Amino acid sequence: MPVSLFDTARPLEPLQGELRAAVERVLASGRYILGPEVRAFESEFAAYVGASHAVGVGNGTDALTIALRAMGVGPGDEVVVPSFSFYASAEAIPPTGATPVFCDIDPDTFCVTADTVRAALTPRTKVVIAVHLFGNVAPIAEIEALGIPVLEDAAQAVGSLSASGRPGALGTAATFSFYPSKNLGAFGDGGAITTSDAAIAERARALRFHGSRDKQTFEEVGYNSRLDELQAAILRVELPHVDNWAAGRREAAALYADSGLGELVTLPVASAGSEPAWHLYVIRSEQADALGEALRSAEIEARGYYRLPIHRQPAMLTELDLPGTAEAARTNLALPISPVLHSAQVMEIVTAVRAAL
Ligand SMILES: Cc1ncc(COP(=O)(O)O)c(C=O)c1O
Repeated sequence: MPVSLFDTARPLEPLQGELRAAVERVLASGRYILGPEVRAFESEFAAYVGASHAVGVGNGTDALTIALRAMGVGPGDEVVVPSFSFYASAEAIPPTGATPVFCDIDPDTFCVTADTVRAALTPRTKVVIAVHLFGNVAPIAEIEALGIPVLEDAAQAVGSLSASGRPGALGTAATFSFYPSKNLGAFGDGGAITTSDAAIAERARALRFHGSRDKQTFEEVGYNSRLDELQAAILRVELPHVDNWAAGRREAAALYADSGLGELVTLPVASAGSEPAWHLYVIRSEQADALGEALRSAEIEARGYYRLPIHRQPAMLTELDLPGTAEAARTNLALPISPVLHSAQVMEIVTAVRAAL
């Protein structure tokens, strides 16, 4: 049986009735932008992550740009960001006027550490973007202890847990993407900013609406970037199920670990004190590309992520040497994971890995 990298459809099957009812509720309301569904989702999502405020925006990339500006980032500033991430983590910085400064990661966790961030700090560093990559949890408290505010890029980390709380409530502010394949996925684009700092939340709210608080006075140049009512209504149906889905992902990761896969390849390591929701289950192997090809020919979808890290992309090219990033970029391979991946599929995948190596 073919196995896909994600399964965004099956977990939603039991919710079809509720999802249709939510869409019909919005259609009947005649309110499509910044209405009661977005307000309700913002308060439910803030409560879920454990932050005081959530601000719904158009996508996870805008969430980063708006959050950075709301944190005071502007021309002349530097923002530290890992090079091993989705391109948007860094792409969101130049529109604020600031310059991205790339830092390394620990290839075991795929996340930044206090040491890799410290190496990139300068007197101009205004904010550090710490990405909770693949659902693993970056050590936010240790980074904030360096004296620089942290913006968590939690696009891949809904449902993850750490000893000090959930991603979204660990740093000064955090951003989320509700792109359909994410752990909490809308039926289109969507994003959010969470924070317990009322001033940051208020400024983000103005920035998402053209820099205006009252729709009459425009205090600064902002954006037209709102989460819409339909997406908010859909996300409200899904949110109560996110922890169950995360538990399903953790069970699938445990099946991989118990299957002997660790004798064949390097398994992902949960960062200290964390229980990742494993948005992606990413192993490492010196033969990652050949292994990926063998799996795909057995109809098992597998994909290497960020093979060309951001600091090597044409738009962001620098000569920096980031050894952890280079290793992760070269050796990683994402294997299928979802809340509903069952043991027979895991056995099939591990058998195929064994045959290929
Ligand atoms: C780590 C990370 N940051 C930012 C984004 C950007 O989110 P969006 O696609 O909603 O703009 C994504 C996902 O696409 C992501 O994975």
